[in-house]
Amino acid sequence: MTATFTLPSGDQLPAVGLGLWKIPKPQTANLVQTAVRAGYRHFDAACDYGNEAEAGAGFRSAIQAGACRRDELWITSKLWNTYHRSEHVRPACERSLRDLGVDYLDLYLIHFPIALEYVSPEVRYPPEWFYDPAAKDPRMKPAAVPLAETWRAMEELVTAGLVKNIGVCNFGCSLLRDLLSYARIRPAVLQVELHPYLTQEKLLRYCREERIAVTGFSPLGASSYLSLNMAKADESVLEQPVVKHAAARLGKTPAQVVLRWGMQRGTAVVPKTTHPARLAENLAIFDFELSADEMRAISALDRGRRFNDPGQFCESAFNTFFPIYE
Ligand SMILES: NC(=O)c1ccc[n+]([C@@H]2O[C@H](COP(=O)([O-])OP(=O)(O)OC[C@H]3O[C@@H](n4cnc5c(N)ncnc54)[C@H](OP(=O)(O)O)[C@@H]3O)[C@@H](O)[C@H]2O)c1
Repeated sequence: MTATFTLPSGDQLPAVGLGLWKIPKPQTANLVQTAVRAGYRHFDAACDYGNEAEAGAGFRSAIQAGACRRDELWITSKLWNTYHRSEHVRPACERSLRDLGVDYLDLYLIHFPIALEYVSPEVRYPPEWFYDPAAKDPRMKPAAVPLAETWRAMEELVTAGLVKNIGVCNFGCSLLRDLLSYARIRPAVLQVELHPYLTQEKLLRYCREERIAVTGFSPLGASSYLSLNMAKADESVLEQPVVKHAAARLGKTPAQVVLRWGMQRGTAVVPKTTHPARLAENLAIFDFELSADEMRAISALDRGRRFNDPGQFCESAFNTFFPIYE
């Protein structure tokens, strides 16, 4: 098992990265620096996470301290929903570059197949989901932007040397097939929710056939969604007996088993943690292997449970019914 996945560009996507969603701004710079020292080389950032400038400070400190060089880091960022129109894509990317303190991104992803009306960075940054949060009845404001328009502008970022690889998040097979019908530069990576309760076998098989690398987000399942009231306490995959048995057999933690399962089925994983001890734990998944039976038993936990579903959270949190997977 290698520690990287090779993309069509020849670039090597490190199999484990640190997810930066919900890492509080005041902690981000230190955590990023600690992560680099702990051996992380892959960071999963996004405009929407609101902490790119702080992550940038962390990269700068780590590089200045000699912990790594820029070219040893893999930095992913994501185009937010309000910037899908072609004229907004490059400025959005340039803002992320500036905040992250780098002159290129290794990977830039369309965050959601959801186009929302433009909000100027002078009005609000990051713009998040509401068009006008101060309105009496705040809602999302969809924009009619074809994904083909956004993708053309993403391709231009590669041509301009601002980003090395481009890809998408939260796409299913139909959207990918459509994208491949016109892409001059094919998507290198698909990032989607993947954990033992949402294994998405057919999507992974399709991506394998099309040579699109896959990164699994929320690889630990419910954990990320408990504090958001988007998951119930009894939905933790880490409590599953098959996971615990494998952990006991291998002398590893349930989280390591679940992350290893993700990597062993051929996907990169980007677990998030705010705890330095867990940084090391989540990276230490290269010195053991799950048996074929364990892999099968963990995959059999699939129950099609999607925690990050705009069809749910856009209505409950943003007063806007916005299904995308149905
Ligand atoms: N493209 C997209 O639309 C999208 C959507 C969601 C997420 N993502 C990306 O994917 C990354 C990871 O997903 P996520 O943050 O939703 O969830 P996750 O990484 O699966 O889980 C994070 C949660 O698990 C806890 N945790 C971390 N390591 C642990 C361990 N070893 N043992 C027990 N608990 C542990 C964390 O708590 P502590 O922090 O307290 O340790 C946190 O509550 C995000 O940060 C983001 O970069 C992308």
